[in-house]
Amino acid sequence: MFLKFKDLLGLEHLDKKDLQTILDSVKPFKDLFKKSDKASTLRGKTVVTLFYEPSTRTRTSFEIAAKRLSADVVNITVSNSSIVKGESLIDTGKTLEAMGADYIIIRHTLAGTPDILAKNLNVSIINAGDGFHEHPTQGLLDLYTIYERKKRIEGLKVLLVGDVLHSRVAKSNMWALTKMGAEVLVSGPSTLVPAGIENLGVKVFYNLDEAVKIADVLNILRVQFERQQENLFPSIREYISLYQLTKERLTLAKSDVLIMHPGPVNRGIEITSEVADAPNTAINEQIINGIAVRMTVLCLLELIKRENAS
Ligand code: CP
Repeated sequence: MFLKFKDLLGLEHLDKKDLQTILDSVKPFKDLFKKSDKASTLRGKTVVTLFYEPSTRTRTSFEIAAKRLSADVVNITVSNSSIVKGESLIDTGKTLEAMGADYIIIRHTLAGTPDILAKNLNVSIINAGDGFHEHPTQGLLDLYTIYERKKRIEGLKVLLVGDVLHSRVAKSNMWALTKMGAEVLVSGPSTLVPAGIENLGVKVFYNLDEAVKIADVLNILRVQFERQQENLFPSIREYISLYQLTKERLTLAKSDVLIMHPGPVNRGIEITSEVADAPNTAINEQIINGIAVRMTVLCLLELIKRENAS
């Protein structure tokens, strides 16, 4: 069970029971957040955010979540830190640990970076996104958003659309959803769908319309132009024509289909503005759930640390 670990590095190693424990714990934190209330769980604890890549949602929602649990929060701006003078990742981590950090929330361009810190430090490490690998709290907030809206995960068909290859969000979604009994479908250009993905129990559709017809949830992925070393589709115009979620394409979908996007949204590329703002999208709810899920993760890690210490 994840609660035996001091860190949250990914969803691959969590089991169904861990995921269910998290899902069952979120609502009181969401209620607390909505009432603008605070809990005292992390009073006297220090949470450090260490982001080597830009972020709006994840970094800010971790900060809000930690503050709602009464923690002290320190945000490291990498461009203004000694990292630019060549300080190593482990030395940076050890420096923060010596200063009394209890949690380090790290985002890095390289897959596996949070694991390296976790192996070398006693402080709890939470992965806020590492390369193409995982983005576990995004996977959890997506899972919770589906659970909240659909009242179940088991048996649902969840379609991930677009740039699956570069998406750590897609990887964390796949691990969590398949463990919880959902059927994961993916649709995108063959160059943006990892080879052998079917071996993870995922069904691939190169024709988006066929997949949209049968899906209960559409999770539209951002096209990650910044991670593409070469042009992986002939033109934006062709991508839009084959894979953009449009109002017309949505007429093929089930009437109660749930539309999600992890953000940031490339309006007019993977989704039209009209669809991004439609009533059956959960994009704003995902942001609120992100705070509640991150409060839950911090609280569960803290409780298990206390249990292990006693
Ligand atoms: N979804 C997500 O990770 O957004 P940010 O890059 O803004 O944190």
